[in-house]
Amino acid sequence: MASKIVFPKEFLWGAATASYQIEGAWNKHGKGESTWDRFSHTPGKIMNGDTGDIADDHYRLWKKDVGLMKKLGLQAYRFSISWPRILPTGRGKVNQRGVDFYSKLVDSLLEANITPFVTLFHWDAPQALEEEGGWPMRFMAEAFVEYTDVISRALGDRVKNWITHNEPAVVAWLGYGIGVHAPGRTDFKLALPAAHHLLLSHGWAVPVIRRNSPNAEVGITLNIGWKVPASNSVADLDLARRDDGQWFRWFADPVYGRGYPSDVTEDFKKMDALPNGMDFVREGDMKTIAAPTDFIGLNYYSRNISRASEKDNDPQIFFPQPQTPEYWTEMPWENYPDGLTGVLGRVYFNYNPLKLYITENGASYSTPPDEKGNVPDVHRTNYLRTHFVAMHRAIQAGVPLAGYFVWSLLDNFEWSFGYSQRFGIVWVDYKTQKRYPKDSAKWYRKVIKKNGF
Ligand code: FCB
Repeated sequence: MASKIVFPKEFLWGAATASYQIEGAWNKHGKGESTWDRFSHTPGKIMNGDTGDIADDHYRLWKKDVGLMKKLGLQAYRFSISWPRILPTGRGKVNQRGVDFYSKLVDSLLEANITPFVTLFHWDAPQALEEEGGWPMRFMAEAFVEYTDVISRALGDRVKNWITHNEPAVVAWLGYGIGVHAPGRTDFKLALPAAHHLLLSHGWAVPVIRRNSPNAEVGITLNIGWKVPASNSVADLDLARRDDGQWFRWFADPVYGRGYPSDVTEDFKKMDALPNGMDFVREGDMKTIAAPTDFIGLNYYSRNISRASEKDNDPQIFFPQPQTPEYWTEMPWENYPDGLTGVLGRVYFNYNPLKLYITENGASYSTPPDEKGNVPDVHRTNYLRTHFVAMHRAIQAGVPLAGYFVWSLLDNFEWSFGYSQRFGIVWVDYKTQKRYPKDSAKWYRKVIKKNGF
């Protein structure tokens, strides 16, 4: 049967992971402690007391994992670098063994014809720097640039696609505001400067990467949901505006030279998160943050519906569909593919990035292997297929979407949920570290081969 949905010729198909979620080896070969090591070792923070101490043991099994990627036909692999593996205390002394690990990984990916996409910061900051104050402090952005310089000099000859940050909103709001992520601080007065320094470090890092990695493409990855009000009431509309403002526009607007959105600044003032106004913003910062980039990475998973009548006043997920696995993944996040077409169009037509990547998209389903070792994860395949159709629609509408990375290559440590959520297209048996490609991975392989389905 001929393919009905065909993607543009150069479209890149990949998979994504993050250092803390897969590597393990948290204290091996000179690696320093990260904020996530500290957080997960603190009782009560992570479901079931899970930690990333071993995770997928990828630090040891990386060669096999590259072999697996090759077998699946992946064209690109997005992974992150553990900052404290490179600089154990965050700056100063370099841990050469850490650099070598990533350097060999890159070589082996290139040998397998897989394009590496490197994320510099996917949340595991050096604990030593957190002890000096972490992201709420300006020095943290300076330290990030030192780290960027070291690693982009080491890999820049071979890595040509760089992502400075993954979802800075999650680090700032969940890590410093709400405290359910590392470093577990709970003060929005800290979260606001943290967000600013994350953005500032992005802006400072862009020219450093360009200098060390000729002809590289550089971007940032932001999380985005399809935000809708539950009704047309003023209260619901306003809640949806705030939800989108705090989680997306607060980050996208500065990156695209628009400064911080004033309506959201007002919201933060009402939350008493800006007692001294924006005093952490220095002259020239906004220009730095708006450094031209080559692409934006978007992580899209679901739709968020705002209902102001909910008493805790948080954006509430509304349940308009049957609560079956077809519509609800196990997070539980709604399977809402139309939102992917929506966010792609909205970001492209509002911000005009040169190109876009979906740097994460995927679903948590716990379907286990059967006796033969097959994993019939039909709901994940359904999720992927419907999202691919949604991407294709956006491309046809003129959105320059250049590639897609499924989250995730492997089942892994899902932050505060520990190992209870499985997003992989490959099942990981955490006792034996055996990997079992799920049916979704086998289907994905065919899609990649045909560049469509
Ligand atoms: C994103 C994270 C990623 C993973 C997915 C499920 O917010 O970037 O590490 O946990 O959610």
